[in-house]
Amino acid sequence: MSEHLSSELVYLDNAATSFPKPEGVYDAVNRFIRENAGSPTRGIGEGSDETNRLLDLTRRRLASFLGIRKAERLIFTYSATDGLSTVLFGLLDEGDHVLITPLEHNSVLRPLDMLASEKGVMFNILPHDYTGRVYADSIRDLVRPNTRLIAISMVSNVLGTIQPYKEICEVGRKLGIPVLLDGAQAAGHIPIELDKWGAAFFACPGHKAMLGLQGTGILYVNEDYTVRPLRVGGTGYLSESMKHPTAMPQYYESGTINMPGVASLSAGLDFIESFGLEKIDLHVTALAARLISGLMEIPGVVIYGPKDTKDGHGGVVSFNIGEHNCTTVGEILAGKYRIANRVGFHCAPLTHRLVGTLDRGGTVRLSIGVFNAAEHIEKALAAVQEIATTL
Ligand code: ALA
Repeated sequence: MSEHLSSELVYLDNAATSFPKPEGVYDAVNRFIRENAGSPTRGIGEGSDETNRLLDLTRRRLASFLGIRKAERLIFTYSATDGLSTVLFGLLDEGDHVLITPLEHNSVLRPLDMLASEKGVMFNILPHDYTGRVYADSIRDLVRPNTRLIAISMVSNVLGTIQPYKEICEVGRKLGIPVLLDGAQAAGHIPIELDKWGAAFFACPGHKAMLGLQGTGILYVNEDYTVRPLRVGGTGYLSESMKHPTAMPQYYESGTINMPGVASLSAGLDFIESFGLEKIDLHVTALAARLISGLMEIPGVVIYGPKDTKDGHGGVVSFNIGEHNCTTVGEILAGKYRIANRVGFHCAPLTHRLVGTLDRGGTVRLSIGVFNAAEHIEKALAAVQEIATTL
């Protein structure tokens, strides 16, 4: 093995879930579950008061971080999927039409497919280049009288392509069509200003670049819109009534909120703010740039998606080595070199159709987080080089 390779784990699967978390996240969750006895919005007493305070404060801080003026429109969910399903199932009706990109995740595609079978919802893919980046201007040509939504994954979880999300929001606003932004690979990595852009809906997970626990997520529903909630029930609010409250955020937050998760999001945000979002963006993009340029030098390696990173890039890079099966390569990377990665289709079948990897089992994906260092990228490159030479 070359000198770059040691037995220490190199975690390059941050697009799936970030690891490690900041020390403050471990501490906050530990402290919360040890010291905060109360249920949010329900009990009386010190524990509940402290829990309510944390819930309110975190909601307000996250709203400000995402450029949302009305914090009560920011909803705590269980995942990005949970938020996306809330909007898609809550908004779309018989015969509605939706515009999407070729880079959508199954968290958008599968609800749309189900709605197509059950309610005749139709969807079209916007015109795009070879990286899946759509042309915002083409929206005007594709809208129909029944176009009810434009759904955009801001950053591809397979290719790292960044969509022109601001322009798309602007076109949507001019046409009076709401835009749903899937921020799964964007939140905590690139600056987000939802109200300034005029986004109608936004969903993201809490456990990726937001650095919180799995089982957390955020949904934003702009004040101009109301969609049917996915679930209704206990909210701790107007409990004497069987009618589900319409007040925000209770309308969308039935069931006890994942408060250890909220504590983790608060501490994750502390870290992001002290490190600096701009610095995170620069750091992740620079490492992606080095990974791409290093992979390009290895004979037999094919990289998918944008290779130019000067206007930004997601933290993900997908590739294959010649005709070798991606699972074989990923297993060697993980087993022999201890480089955590993901292989296959990454829940994004249309993306693989776009880059021609649907019939060959998908790609090997390496994904970068704030805790990765240049040394991790060099280790990964040395390992790929060795695999490409010896396999
Ligand atoms: N959507 C996540 C990924 O890309 C889970 O791995």
